Amino acid sequence: MRKRDSLQAVGACALLSSTVFALWQVPMKTYITTPIYYVNGAPHIGHAHTSVMADILKRNRIAIGYEGKLTTGCDEHGQKNQEAAAESGLSVEEYLDGRSAEFRNVFDRLSVEYDYFVRTSCPEHKQRVAEIEQRMYDADLIVKKEYSGTYCTGCEQFKKPSDLNDDGRCPDHPTLVPEEITEENYFLKIEPFRDALLKHIADHPDFVQPEIYKTELLKMLSEPLEDLCISRPKRRVSLGVTMPFDDDYVTYVWFDALINYITNINWPEDEYKAWWAECEHLIGKDILKTHGVYWPIMLMAIDMAPPKRLSVHGHWVGAGGLKMSKTMGNVVDPIEVMDNLGSDALRYYLARNARADADSQISVELITQAYNSELGNKLGNLLSRAGKFAKSRFDGKVPERGSGAVDDADEQLRKQVMEACAPFAKKLDLAEIPYATQGLITVCDHMNNYFADQAPWDLIKNEDTKERCAAVIYVTLDCLRLVFEAFSQVLPTTSAQALGLLNCTVPTGGDEAWVPGLDKLQAGGDLAEISTLYPRAA
Ligand code: MSP
Repeated sequence: MRKRDSLQAVGACALLSSTVFALWQVPMKTYITTPIYYVNGAPHIGHAHTSVMADILKRNRIAIGYEGKLTTGCDEHGQKNQEAAAESGLSVEEYLDGRSAEFRNVFDRLSVEYDYFVRTSCPEHKQRVAEIEQRMYDADLIVKKEYSGTYCTGCEQFKKPSDLNDDGRCPDHPTLVPEEITEENYFLKIEPFRDALLKHIADHPDFVQPEIYKTELLKMLSEPLEDLCISRPKRRVSLGVTMPFDDDYVTYVWFDALINYITNINWPEDEYKAWWAECEHLIGKDILKTHGVYWPIMLMAIDMAPPKRLSVHGHWVGAGGLKMSKTMGNVVDPIEVMDNLGSDALRYYLARNARADADSQISVELITQAYNSELGNKLGNLLSRAGKFAKSRFDGKVPERGSGAVDDADEQLRKQVMEACAPFAKKLDLAEIPYATQGLITVCDHMNNYFADQAPWDLIKNEDTKERCAAVIYVTLDCLRLVFEAFSQVLPTTSAQALGLLNCTVPTGGDEAWVPGLDKLQAGGDLAEISTLYPRAA
C-alpha cells in the first residue's frame, strides 16, 4: 500500500471509529405510547393488553441497548366520563382521582414500567392543548359553524350513516343509542392536508403495521375529508379543556387526548424532539382513524411530523369468539387473574395469544390452562427437576460441564435455544410478540425431551457416566438460564426469580446490551433453594 493510501486508510479508520464511538455514546431512542384509557369504568383486559405489550417492547429495546420511554395513562375528559362521574355520586375530582388510581394500580401490578402516567386533567397538559388550538386558530385553520350529526358517546365521535349498522347503532357500541345532535361548534379544516398525509404514507411504508390496517387507512383517505369537530358547548359537556378563544366551549375529547403524546415529552421544549422522532403508538384497531387520519393532520397543522409508527392490534373476545360483556358473564377481570395466578400468568397469555391482524379469544379457563400446561409443566417443572437434581446429586452446585462430554444432542439443543432467543435480541415488533413467545415455549418442549432422553437419573448411577450426567445437568440449566434471560422481557417477575435460583441476574441492557450466549452459567456456583415458580392452579 502506498503511503498516501495507507494514511487515507488510517483516516478512514479514525473517522469510522469516532462515528462508532459517537453512536456508542448516544444510544438509540425508543418512545412507545399506549392509548390513554377512558375512566368511565374499571380497567379491563383490553387496557391491560396494550400496556403490557408496550412494556414488553420497552424491555426488549432497553435489553438490546436502546434508551426507552413508555407512557400510558388516563383520558379523563369528555361526555362519557362526565356521565360516569355524575352517576357515581362523587365530585368529578374524586371520581377521576379514584379511577385513575385504579388504572395505575393495575399497571403497577402488571409490572408495566411506564416513565410517565398521563392524566389529561393535569394543568400542564391543558395549557399546551389550549396553546395548540390558539396556533391553529391564528393560522385560520379553525372555523365555527352549525352541524347536525349522529354522535356515539361510546366512541366519543360523530358518525356517518355508513359507519353505523342497519339498525342505526354503532358496531363497536351496539347497546348505546347514538344521539342526534345539532350544535354550533368549532371545526378544524383537515381536507387541505389529505394529499400530504397520503404522500407521507407512500414515503414511509412502515408507517402503519400490519399491512391490513394500512389498506384500511388508505381507504379512509380515499375520499375528501369533512372538517373535524374540535369542540363541545359547555352547556352539554363541561369536563374538558376550555377553548382559548371561546369560554363557552371545551375542547373535543379526542383532540385533547391525542395531544398527550407530545405533552408527555415536554413539547415544545427542545428535549421532546429526539423522542418524538422515534415515537411508536400502540393502538387497537378501533382507533385507527383518530390516530391515522386526525392525529397526523393535527400535527401537520402545527408543522410537526407525524409519528414514526402506528402499531395496530386486534381485539380480545370471549371464548368461542363472543364479545365480552357483563350480561354474557364472560368478562375477564385482570385483577382477579393476577390474584389467582400472578401477573406473569396474565402477561404470558396476552403475549402468547394476541394477534395483530385478527381478534383473539380469552377466558379465565384459557389463561389457567396455558399457565398450568405451558408455564407450569414445560418451563417451571424443568427448572424444578434439573435444579433439585443438581442440589441433591452435585452438592447444591451447578456441576462442571466436564471435558469431552459434548454430544450431538447437546449441540442440537443449544442451537435450538439460541435460535428461540434470537428474536428477543433484536428490535421486536408488536406483531412479532406472539410468535417470539411461542418460540420460547416450543423450545421448552425440546429441553424437556432432551432431559427425558438423556435420563440423568440413570447416568448418575454409574461411575463412568457420571461426567456425562454432569454435562447433561449443566446443559439443561444453562439453556434454562438463557431462556429465562429472553423471557425476562415477557415474564419479568418469575424470570427474575428463576435467574435468582440459578445465581444469575436479569440482563440490565442499556450500556450493557444483552447478547444471548451459551455457557455463561457459572459451574461450581451455588444454587439457591429451588421453589416452585408456577404452582399448579385449580
Ligand atoms: N380514550 C381513547 C383513546 C385516546 S388515545 C389518545 C380510547 N379509550 S378506550 O379506553 O376506549 O380504549 C383504549 C384502548 O383499549 C384502545 O386501543 C382499544 O382498542 C383498546 N381496547 C378496548 N377493548 C379492547 C378489547 N376487547 N381488546 C383489546 N383491546 C381493546 O379509545
